[in-house]
Amino acid sequence: MHSFAGHQHRKSGEASPKITRGLVLDTGWRYDLMEWFFDTFFLRGKLQELRQRTADLAHVQSGDKVLDVGCGTGTLAMFVAPRVGAAGRVFGIDPGTQQIACARSKAARRDLPIEFQVGVIEHLDFPDRTFDVVLSTIMMHHLSDTLKRQGLAEIFRVLNPGGRLVIADFNRPEEQPAQSKRFGPGGSRMENLEALVKEAGFIQVEMDEMQLPRFPGHSAGFAGFVSAKKPTS
Ligand SMILES: C[S@@+](CC[C@H](N)C(=O)[O-])C[C@H]1O[C@@H](n2cnc3c(N)ncnc32)[C@H](O)[C@@H]1O
Repeated sequence: MHSFAGHQHRKSGEASPKITRGLVLDTGWRYDLMEWFFDTFFLRGKLQELRQRTADLAHVQSGDKVLDVGCGTGTLAMFVAPRVGAAGRVFGIDPGTQQIACARSKAARRDLPIEFQVGVIEHLDFPDRTFDVVLSTIMMHHLSDTLKRQGLAEIFRVLNPGGRLVIADFNRPEEQPAQSKRFGPGGSRMENLEALVKEAGFIQVEMDEMQLPRFPGHSAGFAGFVSAKKPTS
């Protein structure tokens, strides 16, 4: 269902296959069901709160052009779409073909004009300076540091000057070996991510934190946010 090893997806009409060494999730509706269960009974609604705070920190507003990187089944993109209104646009990319199919059908049922595409953070299929805002939730821990660097360089490229970036993820300063094995070699330390965001050329890099309920078998007692801006010149 998910793996690290050179995941490849080709959609009819796509010029090139999408290959990533990130941890791809491709469970479609089952992801939503599992997430609902996990969020309701263990995290007590904190995942939904995390998405709301992500959009708030990015000051998503009417007319914005927004990209959700690693959008999964599109929950954040659908949350943001009413904020940008008819004057704005929302895009979401994810390497999981079933996640994208699920996101498309959810958006269609809600009559939300969101553009979901199969794609990877390390090769964003958009021209330079396309977006006012780039968002990403609980996705960066799926990537090695090398992929994170490539992905942040791509986000920097597709953002307009002055564009905003907000990344939210679990913060596991002391990662267990089993978790590193499951989630990939990048780990999920927000300080590490903050340093990589600065290294990519972003300014006004700020960190924020949100406490999560603790429960056995899950070491992420916190979620973290990194907010940043692309310089105007
Ligand atoms: C835990 S899910 C989070 C999905 C969504 N952002 C959310 O908040 O529900 C992580 C997502 O990152 C995606 N992912 C893995 N490697 C990726 C890559 N190289 N580029 C973009 N997304 C990737 C996975 O397929 C998965 O859908």
